[in-house]
Amino acid sequence: MKTLTTLIIAVVIALLGIVSYAYSGLYDVSASSPHSGVLDWLLSTTSHASIERRASEIEVPELDNDDLVLAGINDFNSMCTGCHGAPGKDPEAMGQGLNPPAPDLAEEAAELTPAELFWVTKNGIRMTGMPAWGATHGDDSIWPVVAFMTRLPELDEAAYQELLASAAGQGHHASDAADAEHSHEESDEAADNAAHDHDEPHEHGAAAEPETAPEASEEHDHSTHEHNR
Ligand code: HEC
Repeated sequence: MKTLTTLIIAVVIALLGIVSYAYSGLYDVSASSPHSGVLDWLLSTTSHASIERRASEIEVPELDNDDLVLAGINDFNSMCTGCHGAPGKDPEAMGQGLNPPAPDLAEEAAELTPAELFWVTKNGIRMTGMPAWGATHGDDSIWPVVAFMTRLPELDEAAYQELLASAAGQGHHASDAADAEHSHEESDEAADNAAHDHDEPHEHGAAAEPETAPEASEEHDHSTHEHNR
């Protein structure tokens, strides 16, 4: 009985300690200071185990499909590279200030299974900068991005740009700048550009040109997007 009383008192003191620490303002929440070693281990272990468990229930469709990959690269390029970067492309300022940092997916995609890539892309990772794309995108527009990510580890900068050029007009982010009626015309134009670019394979600046169309307007009116690719 005495041990039990001591235990209860110890637990109450510990809880009071945690609550006063929370109110004290002593904990540094800044994104510019790294997590302590213990917290870092705890968070990443919890996160990996959680992803692995939940992804194990996902049924993966056939992903080894060039059309799917082409549809995925445009969406990857407009939705993911700002934080994660791409072959030959650093993350933007926003991505460089994240803590935990957004990892280079060209390396990470080789470590994760397609089901895990899908789960993370759809659901995001709480308390990190990784958004849940499933909040605004159906599974049908997330699988192409996953299909693309399975190829990403093999791509160098030139191969990435070449694939991006040949994907002009594909994926739901291909025509962000245009409304639904004009998107077809724009796609043809972009495809023409891509065809010309193949004449000069080493001109990366030119090969990347079709990508300026989706990036020109970052207005994401998802109500007009087609998500049923
Ligand atoms: C606003 C920044 C941001 C954007 C945009 C973003 N991510 Fe992330 N992502 C992160 C961060 C930060 C992490 C690391 C989270 C962590 O450490 O647990 C992450 C982690 C991931 C991981 C897990 C990597 C691993 O090794 O566990 C995958 C997969 C991923 N992101 C895919 C994507 C895809 C696909 C897109 C685009 C559709 C995307 N992300 C867009 C910030 C971002």
